Amino acid sequence: MNELSKHYQFSDQHPEVTDFRADIIQGLCASPPYISAKYFYDENGSRLFEKICNTEEYYPTRTEVDIIRDNIDDIVNVLGKDCLLIEPGSGDSYKVRLLLDALRPIAYLPIDISKRYLQDEAKKLAAEFTWLKVHAICADFTGNDFSGKLALPHHVSVTNKVAFFPGSTIGNFEPEQAVKVLEEIKMMVGEQGGLLIGVDLQKDTAILNAAYNDKEGYTAQFNKNLLLRINRELGANFNPEQFQHHAFYNEQKHRIEMHLLSIIDQQVDIGNERFLFKKDQSILTEYSHKYSIELFQQLAAQAGFQRVKTWLDEKSLFSLHYFTVV
Ligand code: AVJ
Repeated sequence: MNELSKHYQFSDQHPEVTDFRADIIQGLCASPPYISAKYFYDENGSRLFEKICNTEEYYPTRTEVDIIRDNIDDIVNVLGKDCLLIEPGSGDSYKVRLLLDALRPIAYLPIDISKRYLQDEAKKLAAEFTWLKVHAICADFTGNDFSGKLALPHHVSVTNKVAFFPGSTIGNFEPEQAVKVLEEIKMMVGEQGGLLIGVDLQKDTAILNAAYNDKEGYTAQFNKNLLLRINRELGANFNPEQFQHHAFYNEQKHRIEMHLLSIIDQQVDIGNERFLFKKDQSILTEYSHKYSIELFQQLAAQAGFQRVKTWLDEKSLFSLHYFTVV
């Protein structure tokens, strides 16, 4: 056995293509129509998201990275030694790199729906951190019976399981659904488990609106990439130029809403299914809920998590919290 195979494992728990097609059609048939935000991150989308993160306007990523860097010793102290680190929706695993050297977990379990990307990133990580056991799991952690399906064969006996859920991904879910996601995470980490989670905070509306309308137009491209992905993977004929990126802060609901607005009356075919879009009709593509520290604590408490510690940047733009299972 070579070094890599000793430290790298992969389990496929994802029912891929059929789900994507069924999900898209179901969403577009709904009124109002929507496309789930989890589908942004194909190869193109992930590249565009990286560009968004480097824009002047999009503060969350760099702010969260600063919070982790500035508090790494404290974070490691609170999480404890010898934990099993689980990352649902791991993506490029960029942020976990900030933790690994200091934390030295007994193993790292990234979980993601995009298989190739997950495997590439997990292998890179295993090669980079030669002491680290990496067990990648391809699954949709937002799936209904996910916790039942998640197999952690030889790690189950570890008591100190910690989930890492950065990036304010939790903000993508409506509060009621967010509680369910946190409950799923609670099942993953078990009774003595913990959760290190990044949450974007409520702030001046102008800052929020700018963050989702960068002047270089990467967010608009990111939004429209959903249509290109549907064309490519499902043989549809969306014309992205006939849709307009529309993102705004909804102050009543404390969330950014991203939509694609139909510029004209038009019809689009996905295989045998035909969809009609009236001029100005919207397809909802993302919610990004913003919390106060208190509101988020209440939400986590509903899922059975108790706050241990919160870290902030100096402008209180973003928050990082450590919770344990009650
Ligand atoms: C990674 C889901 C937290 O909601 O801010 C960035 C995604 N969408 N710009 C967010 C996103 C548009 C991002 N999350």
